[in-house]
Amino acid sequence: MKLSLRFVLPLILVLAGIAYAVAPLVDQFTLRWFVKDLDMRSTLIVNTIQEPLQELLQAGKKTRVVEYFNRITQDERFYGVGYCATPSGTVLASRSLPKQLHCRDLESWSGPGEHLLQTEKGPLHVTVRPQESEAAPAGRLVLVHDMSFITRRSEETKRYLFYFFMGLAAVVSLITVVIAQLSWRGWMSGMRALLRGEGLLRQPGADAQPKQSEFKPIARDLQRLINELESDVRARDENQVTWSPESLRAILHAELRGEDVIVVSNREPYIHQRRGDRIEVQQPASGLVTALEPIMRACSGTWIAHGSGTADREAVDANDHVAVPPDHPAYQIRRVWLTPEEEAGYYYGFSNEGMWPLCHIAHVRPTFRSSDWAQYVAVNRKFAEAVVSESKTKNPIVLVQDYHFALLPKMIREKLPDATIITFWHIPWPNPESFAICPWRDEVLAGMLGSSILGFHTQFHCNNFVDTVDRFIEARVDRESFTVSFGGKLTAVRRYPISIEWPPAPEMVSKPIADCRNDIRQLNELPPEHKLGVGIDRLDYTKGIMERFRAIERLLELHPEWVGSFTFVQVAAPTRTGIGEYQHHEAQVRELAARINERFERRGPPPIVLKVEHHEPREVYEYFRAADLCFVSSLHDGMNLVAKEFVAARDDDRGVLILSQFTGAARELPEALIVNPYDADQCAAALHVALTMPAEEQRDRMRLMRGLVAEFNVFRWAGRMLLHAASMRRRSKLGERNGREER
Ligand code: F6P
Repeated sequence: MKLSLRFVLPLILVLAGIAYAVAPLVDQFTLRWFVKDLDMRSTLIVNTIQEPLQELLQAGKKTRVVEYFNRITQDERFYGVGYCATPSGTVLASRSLPKQLHCRDLESWSGPGEHLLQTEKGPLHVTVRPQESEAAPAGRLVLVHDMSFITRRSEETKRYLFYFFMGLAAVVSLITVVIAQLSWRGWMSGMRALLRGEGLLRQPGADAQPKQSEFKPIARDLQRLINELESDVRARDENQVTWSPESLRAILHAELRGEDVIVVSNREPYIHQRRGDRIEVQQPASGLVTALEPIMRACSGTWIAHGSGTADREAVDANDHVAVPPDHPAYQIRRVWLTPEEEAGYYYGFSNEGMWPLCHIAHVRPTFRSSDWAQYVAVNRKFAEAVVSESKTKNPIVLVQDYHFALLPKMIREKLPDATIITFWHIPWPNPESFAICPWRDEVLAGMLGSSILGFHTQFHCNNFVDTVDRFIEARVDRESFTVSFGGKLTAVRRYPISIEWPPAPEMVSKPIADCRNDIRQLNELPPEHKLGVGIDRLDYTKGIMERFRAIERLLELHPEWVGSFTFVQVAAPTRTGIGEYQHHEAQVRELAARINERFERRGPPPIVLKVEHHEPREVYEYFRAADLCFVSSLHDGMNLVAKEFVAARDDDRGVLILSQFTGAARELPEALIVNPYDADQCAAALHVALTMPAEEQRDRMRLMRGLVAEFNVFRWAGRMLLHAASMRRRSKLGERNGREER
């Protein structure tokens, strides 16, 4: 109602204004019209009275003339008439002729056009016409008409005009208000339906109502807008959440109704190893395990992985399940058994001699064999079957990990079309030219595009992937939304920088820093105040361990004062030892360390202590807490979680991180000393800066890095992917419903 008044009042005012402006124009127009009318009437009267008047004048009957004039002026509008024989004579006039009309003035009234005479009784119209005769060649007849009726009519016209416009305003307002009300109601009910999730696409009682296909594009745009707003809100929420195991669990319950999560990776988080007559449980050196283990502890569910330990079969139940962590079981490992041939072809061969060097720029040539490919396909299929058998619903959430399972997403999708498959690629993705080397590139891409979401650590790797897809397969790439549509299936390609558990598990940081410093120095036979650097890696050629040692050698050349007062302990976990390239690399690393030690050992403790052996996470943390610096010199690394773990271990805000620019972590931790591992002089300079860095600067840098790792911890990494998956599931449910109702 208010809305209607708001519209009607201005309309009335506008129309009243128009009426007010139009009235004088109408006045002028009607006046001209009436005057013309009076002129014509005067001419008619003159023509009519001409003959009788001439007769009376010729007969000299002036009294009769006056009587005649009085008689003809009885018409209500004909006011008066008079005759002047000469300009200087006296006017023979009817009674009513105004006194101000004299014969001498008639000439001035006889020009063209109308003449108005204002009198007390109102305006009069005066017409003067020649009335010539032989006796009076300059005779003039003057006729006067009453014009007051014109004023009366003008007033009436104005009144009618006013009523007309007001009536018009009322009619227009009424029609407009009715139309507006009807449209508004329709629009509002449409909007309400849309907001209820029904949408204009959906036609309740489709049989009864005609389809409003013209609304569909609008509805789609609105739906998109609502989705964007929704995801905006969620993105804001993501920043407001304090990411912890509890918040992750809460999201899983609220957004995904507590559905079980299935993780698939090659490496298992706990490995049972036989040591004589006892079984030891080992946690492998793996960034993937470091990140996902706390997630699974928080979310429960099932982790499907290759059972690679010597006592793994002994630890499982009849369904190949084992509950972990051993002390406080929170989730299940489902072990998949591989034959030696499968392991050789799928793991050592295609995964680690083919895909690994293909994706890392470490100048090691990939080797691709068709026999390895066949095993890779077979093992991926084996894991797909395990996923199906572990799935309690038709639409599980499956987190597929890494390059060992490029084909798995498509294989799962074939068996469980409604599954939400999140694939995370833990290593870099190369540019299209490099990827083109892979003889089965199309199959690898098609397999990965079975995923609902495909995650990489950096945007650069996302871009490389999308470029590769665009180059090699028939897929529709949308760079705006960063999605790939392939075989009727949409895959979102997203950046999710991986991280670590924060705060670190209490047992990791429970030993005081001073004790860690003392114990580690004692263990390695180093004096108490000896400067200590650490490197913790798998013994992999991508980690740049050779380059690291060369930088240490260069430091000692440039700054001999560090010889005998600085030692670098390199913990190198044996890895992929069945591969020739790794055996060769290990030999090279050992040789280089020995040569450098030999060169500088004469003045006290050795510059390098190389420990090629497995260390449990607690031991690794002890090294981190004991060190003055940590050196991460990867030649190419998806993220590198060692860098983040070092930061997490240093609750004393001390220690310096030297970090390769070729790691994903370098983008998140710019407060580290960022180096090019191929530049030995630059790395040596960074080592010197680290060893001499004042405590305050160490603290400032460390605090900033700790702040970042705390904020972007692994719960947030997983939480973002799960939130994204949850919104995808909601959207696809909505799509299905709309599809059903449109059919
Ligand atoms: O982080 C990359 C990665 O290859 C993981 O996939 C893997 O678990 C880890 O490094 C260690 O490698 P592997 O499992 O071959 O010992």
